[in-house]
Amino acid sequence: MASVTLQNVKKSFGQVDIIRSVDLLIADGEFVVFVGPSGCGKSTLLRLIAGLEDASGGDILIDDHVVNALTPKERGIGMVFQSYALYPHMTVYENIAFGLELNKESKETIEERVMNTARILQLEKLLKRKPKQLSGGQRQRVAMGRAMAREPSILLFDEPLSNLDAALRVQMRAEIKKLHARLGSTMVYVTHDQVEAMTLADKIVVLNGGRVEQVGTPFELYETPATTFVATFIGSPKMNLLTAKIVETGKHQTTLHLPHAGDLTVNVDSSELQKGDQVQLGIRPEHLNYVSRDKMTSSDKTIGTDKNSDTSNHSGLPVRNIEYLGNESFVYAGDDSMEEPYLARLSVPCRFVEGETVLLDIDPVHTHVFDSKGRALVRTQVDQPLAAQN
Ligand SMILES: Nc1ncnc2c1ncn2[C@@H]1O[C@H](COP(=O)(O)OP(=O)(O)OP(=O)(O)O)[C@@H](O)[C@H]1O
Ligand SMILES: [Mg+2]
Repeated sequence: MASVTLQNVKKSFGQVDIIRSVDLLIADGEFVVFVGPSGCGKSTLLRLIAGLEDASGGDILIDDHVVNALTPKERGIGMVFQSYALYPHMTVYENIAFGLELNKESKETIEERVMNTARILQLEKLLKRKPKQLSGGQRQRVAMGRAMAREPSILLFDEPLSNLDAALRVQMRAEIKKLHARLGSTMVYVTHDQVEAMTLADKIVVLNGGRVEQVGTPFELYETPATTFVATFIGSPKMNLLTAKIVETGKHQTTLHLPHAGDLTVNVDSSELQKGDQVQLGIRPEHLNYVSRDKMTSSDKTIGTDKNSDTSNHSGLPVRNIEYLGNESFVYAGDDSMEEPYLARLSVPCRFVEGETVLLDIDPVHTHVFDSKGRALVRTQVDQPLAAQN
């Protein structure tokens, strides 16, 4: 097993900088997922670790050794690609054994490694079949087996499930997770699918334009995104971002004015900002709750009414679109003045119709505030006694 360290790693193709100074620590045995939009450099970074690309700058270390000059084989790395090609004329056994034969391993070693790999991947009963006699998921497992049989200390996966249908992806996702638990090897997995990232990773690395945007556990990235990019990339459907103005700054609490909702006090440190500064308030769709007009109290903070300008008029926002998913509904609500409607994820049976006005409740505890550069303001403790805050 092995750890991987990237120190100021850069990669340019010609004049174009693709990877811009990446520092990263991947611990021994860790499952790390690189996630980010298409073209952000995920595959390039993985290929740099594998030794399939030369770095234009910086160092790549495996354990404590700089491996920049080593070939992929010398690095002890196995890699599974998105478009894997099995040898069609070879059996599953022969496909898995092929790399070991090239390495001139003994017949006994090959037999032992193939059987061990087949056992882990549950391919024992399929060893005599040819690839065309296998399902997509089984073929994918053979491709993984090929990479694993050499017993690499580090396994790299580049979107290995993207050719599979939705149901099979879910099944294979679970198998890869089990595989990691069984093997305990260091795994680096690339995907642009944030659900895959959330469900597989010990640690997620969010990449954006060749830079690391944030590194953290799935929980940390979801609960405390450092930037609007991470906030809107992690979580589906994505977080609502509402433009707001600072009414009152503070080290522990900040009051914001939101068009359509009035003033809202949130537990963030805005001491570096000024009254009147524009910020963005982030709220996930599951934290916008529908408030029935009958049950509304004066303390409810709702979108659809600006209590500062009119305390009696709870006019609501018109529903633009409803996506009914059976167990929940996505409700898009907004008037003509808004570029993007609010998106609420409602688990209750939703009987709205398009055009109807709704009131949506914001719970300040579940909000995020970002400055004009898109960086999150530090959240302060929610349960801090007021006396201790000032
Ligand atoms: N050999 C190359 N020569 C020139 N440009 C390249 C080369 N390989 C990749 N690029 C460019 O580098 C950028 C990052 O590519 P990369 O394949 O790492 O993206 P990615 O994050 O894996 O995207 P995707 O999710 O689409 O696979 C892209 O703009 C791509 O066009
Ligand atoms: Mg890629």
